[in-house]
Amino acid sequence: MLPIRIAKTAATAGYSKTLARNGGKIASAVVMNKKVLINNTSYFRQQITHPDSAVPQKTLDTIERFNKYTLNTYSRPDIMFTHGKGSYIYDTADRKYLDFTAGIAVNALGHSDEEVANVLFEQAKKLVHCSNLYHNENTGLLAEALVTTTVEQGGFDASKVFLSNSGTESNEGALKFGRKWGKVVDPSGKKHKIVSFTNAFHGRSMGALSATYNPKYQKPFAPLIPGFNVGEFNNVEQVKSLIDDDTCAVIVEPIQGEGGVHPAKKEFLEALRKECDEHNALLIFDEIQCGLGRTGKLWAHQLYNEACRPDILTMAKPLANGIPIGAILITERVADVVKIGDHGTTFGGNPLATAVALSVFNRLSNPQFLNQVEKTGQVLKQGLEKIQTAHPQLVKEVRGNGMLIGMEFVKDPTPVVKMARERGLLVITAGSNTVRIVPSLTLTEAEAQEGLSKLQAAVQQFSEEQ
Ligand SMILES: Cc1ncc(COP(=O)(O)O)c(C=O)c1O
Repeated sequence: MLPIRIAKTAATAGYSKTLARNGGKIASAVVMNKKVLINNTSYFRQQITHPDSAVPQKTLDTIERFNKYTLNTYSRPDIMFTHGKGSYIYDTADRKYLDFTAGIAVNALGHSDEEVANVLFEQAKKLVHCSNLYHNENTGLLAEALVTTTVEQGGFDASKVFLSNSGTESNEGALKFGRKWGKVVDPSGKKHKIVSFTNAFHGRSMGALSATYNPKYQKPFAPLIPGFNVGEFNNVEQVKSLIDDDTCAVIVEPIQGEGGVHPAKKEFLEALRKECDEHNALLIFDEIQCGLGRTGKLWAHQLYNEACRPDILTMAKPLANGIPIGAILITERVADVVKIGDHGTTFGGNPLATAVALSVFNRLSNPQFLNQVEKTGQVLKQGLEKIQTAHPQLVKEVRGNGMLIGMEFVKDPTPVVKMARERGLLVITAGSNTVRIVPSLTLTEAEAQEGLSKLQAAVQQFSEEQ
């Protein structure tokens, strides 16, 4: 921990913003009276331990060198990670960070999981890839597990699987299946309309982007794919006017992730299902972020009743704990319209990715594991609610399920990400005003408390700097 010398003191009661100097660098600190000090002791325990400014010069030089050759589409801090273990990840200065981002909801079993490493290693020695021109055992075993476990655990009426390589690609396939459905139901081609919703995120390829209503992402690449209509997320009254006989598919996240962690209302999903049935359109649930155990259920739609079930479900992120893979899970009637030659991908379902995915899926879908996700998620949520109670003027709401939790602020909380990181905690934002908590699902309750304590200190600093 770096020593912080208070440079200026506040004469007034309460606490006020001040500046501290620390090795020539300006850091923020607070001055408090005795009463506030007692209420905020953990703030002082969690002073800045991981300043961004302490990154080794060698790392900065390396980043500068790589930046010459890497297309810069991401805004990122000058930190480079080298390895991880469980819920922790380490940088080039061997500083340990508690990771509440898990590679954006990907490393559900934590970093460097031994079983994942062993399965990967053993399969890599046997067969990495042979293309979908031929059968391989792992693809079939994974498809079987996805279908049977989904049905056994009370998910939707899944029947078949198409394996892809990412979330975006899974949505592309799902949208294509929707269009094919429309063509089969109405060969005139009129039934091609696809409905998506505000705040949704479905990916960046042209089809998925067309369903991702966000002018920032869409505008530079217009014109997009025709036939996409956007409705207001969670507006139950509007649903009837959105879906008609020309609609072939509706795509929705049961819990929006990137858009700000917004769970769908039960009535909204019920209305979508009802209107899709009325007009013979397919309902696609994008569970790429909220599925595969993240909510404490195998699928997020299991948090809802039987009237909230999709025809198609897309998944990706944690399916192989970081090895790229995605999948489209479909009902029998959808499978019936997709024929040989309709869709394909070179890498999709290759023996290496599916060997890992099968092992990961079996662990993620274990009911005891899911119970623990729910329990630890509650610890996290309650802790976040305490932070909200301490900062009612700054934190508007805490929402989400399991370990997909959002903390909405009254203003852009981007500075909190840095304030947390400089205390050794990684978090991300979602939407325009939300901090998103998506740790590894193996997070322990002690780790949850550790992260909450660091986050509380970060929010305290954010509050002080208003
Ligand atoms: C709900 C949802 N759909 C689709 C995607 C796109 O997935 P990928 O980045 O794997 O292509 C994401 C990624 O964040 C997502 O959260």
